[in-house]
Amino acid sequence: MIEDIKDVLIDEMTLKERVKDLAKELSEEYKDKNPLVICVLKGAVLFMSDLIKNMDIPLEIDFMAVSSYGNETRTSGEVRIMKDLDKSVDGRHLLIVEDIVDSGLTLSYLVKMFKDRHTKSVKVCSLLDKPERRTTNVDIHYVGFAVPDEFVVGYGLDFAEKYRNLPFIGVLKEEIYL
Ligand code: XMP
Ligand code: MG
Repeated sequence: MIEDIKDVLIDEMTLKERVKDLAKELSEEYKDKNPLVICVLKGAVLFMSDLIKNMDIPLEIDFMAVSSYGNETRTSGEVRIMKDLDKSVDGRHLLIVEDIVDSGLTLSYLVKMFKDRHTKSVKVCSLLDKPERRTTNVDIHYVGFAVPDEFVVGYGLDFAEKYRNLPFIGVLKEEIYL
């Protein structure tokens, strides 16, 4: 595991502090809105659970799974809904929680889909942002960290389903995925 990591980009302490700050901001914004906080599986699971533990307001959670990546490090250019929400979003304030925004394709698709479902508001909170890779314009209202154009793993993010349980964000050695 750890021997496959080239660099630690964001250590555990730094993640923890930033997540707390984001949670504070979000609590302020959503205190009277009973938001539906949507975790995009599986990458956002660790981030989302740490985030909501630090939000001291009424909220509900739900999960969805989309696919635009296989075991590759580049997008296939296609978004498929693998698991939709359990709850209705009608009249709700939605906060979509993502692990990373890369091309922006996944999020722009999700935001558009939810806006078409009679929501009161749709906002996005992503742990990581890779701005250099953006091809589709999408508003990310809350961002944890901007990262360079390298393949990162850990804290929920995977390569071929591995490394999600690392407690930090690291850059994978090239020989692992080349
Ligand atoms: P798009 O291109 O639609 O992609 O913005 C977002 C999704 O792509 C995955 N992704 C990564 N996953 N390390 C990962 O583990 C990365 O560096 C990376 N870049 C993109 C991720 O699933 C995200 O939700
Ligand atoms: Mg993802």
